Amino acid sequence: MIGSVDPTERSAAMTTAEIQGSLLDPEVQACPFGYHAQLRELAPVHRMPETGFYVISTYEDLKTVLSDPVTFSNDIMVEQLAGEAAADLGRMFDDHLAEVGWGHVQTLQRTDPPVHGRYRRLINRALTPGMVKAMIPSVTRIADELIDSFIDQGECDFIDAFAFPLPGLVIAEQIGLDSNAISTFKRWSDGMLAPAMGLLVDEASAQHYAEVEAEAQHYLAALFEERRANPTDDILSALLADSADGDEPLTMHELQNLMNQLITGGYTTTADSIGNAMLLLLEHPDQMELLRNDRSLLHNFADEALRHSSSVQGLFRRATVDTELSGVSIPANSILHTRYGSANWDEAMFPEAERFDITRSNASKHLSFSRGPHFCVGQPLAIQEMIIGFDRILDRLDNIQLAPGATLERTGGLIFYSLKELPITFTAS
Ligand code: HEM
Repeated sequence: MIGSVDPTERSAAMTTAEIQGSLLDPEVQACPFGYHAQLRELAPVHRMPETGFYVISTYEDLKTVLSDPVTFSNDIMVEQLAGEAAADLGRMFDDHLAEVGWGHVQTLQRTDPPVHGRYRRLINRALTPGMVKAMIPSVTRIADELIDSFIDQGECDFIDAFAFPLPGLVIAEQIGLDSNAISTFKRWSDGMLAPAMGLLVDEASAQHYAEVEAEAQHYLAALFEERRANPTDDILSALLADSADGDEPLTMHELQNLMNQLITGGYTTTADSIGNAMLLLLEHPDQMELLRNDRSLLHNFADEALRHSSSVQGLFRRATVDTELSGVSIPANSILHTRYGSANWDEAMFPEAERFDITRSNASKHLSFSRGPHFCVGQPLAIQEMIIGFDRILDRLDNIQLAPGATLERTGGLIFYSLKELPITFTAS
């Protein structure tokens, strides 16, 4: 249910203490919109009592934080934010990975300028607009093959049958895996995401997931050596090519960490976005009809879906100095929770923000891909996958509806907004 606060009820006396509920509550995580509205209205910079994190919820404040990497650093071990026990398990994971593969080093997303700039220049070459455009035929083929596999059944779980395998297979192909190896790829990706997803529960699980990531690393190391000898036009070859800016070539530790970020950053985020976008169309049949009849709206639809139901609801920054935001003092070393999902519903930026409107004129101003130096490097690819995926779905399936009796559940957590299943029915066009 969408909640909001009547502006006439607002008074100077209202403070963080009056915020009802918590972002740690699974029900709030499953539907955070009403909670976000409270934050924006009553405590735009809200110190979470349970964690001490400062939640940044308005569009303007979030833009300020994301655009100022000197005051708000990305140099944080996210997996260590969940307390001492989690930090210990994270260290066990890292130590074991260093023994059986390549231990994590901080690159790209976990660095600040100017160090960040070197990684960013090198990775920008791996996802140029030209390379993303060249991937159109393979994204289209993968989408069609996936639809072939379920179209005769008249029903499917859209998450399992399409939303997850599409971006998974696109990246898997880039690292030389064929469609039969998608389960291997998913296992590797799950292993890489395990520390951030809270899946390290004891020493055995920490070692297990480190070994899964090491298996992927050994495969990638062999592939890097092959590409070094015989470059192709894929992402790996681009990461190995000499830099025109005189940057030092990447070491194997750095290459492994960048591949980890490309795989973890590019897979579930895009899969969740495709799933969330389909649910929005199911809930708004008028918008589905509009899109079906006018495919020039596909790009704006993708942005509006990302604005409305951002698959990454929030990430983190660390204050490097004592600072202040919207009148709230933030001591040095505090952790900020950058709540993209709330900024995207800020009425000051998006009037009638709760309305899903694929013709919204400023939909692309959403912050779901962040802003500033860490703006998502995979944005053109993610948008392209959404455009092609929905174009093929709408061409080939009619009467798409939520399956009768379907109950929808979301995975929990502060970061992701992710559907576990999305059962649909349809007829073949
Ligand atoms: C709809 C899908 C996606 C969403 C919602 C998303 C979201 C984000 C966000 C919010 C950030 C910024 C993190 C920060 O501010 O600290 C980011 C960065 C990043 N994303 Fe994406 N992403 C998506 C797809 C992709 C894809 C397809 C790839 C690669 C194939 C990718 C790779 C990365 C990488 C490597 C970074 C780090 C960039 C840097 O620190 O300079 N993402 N993404």
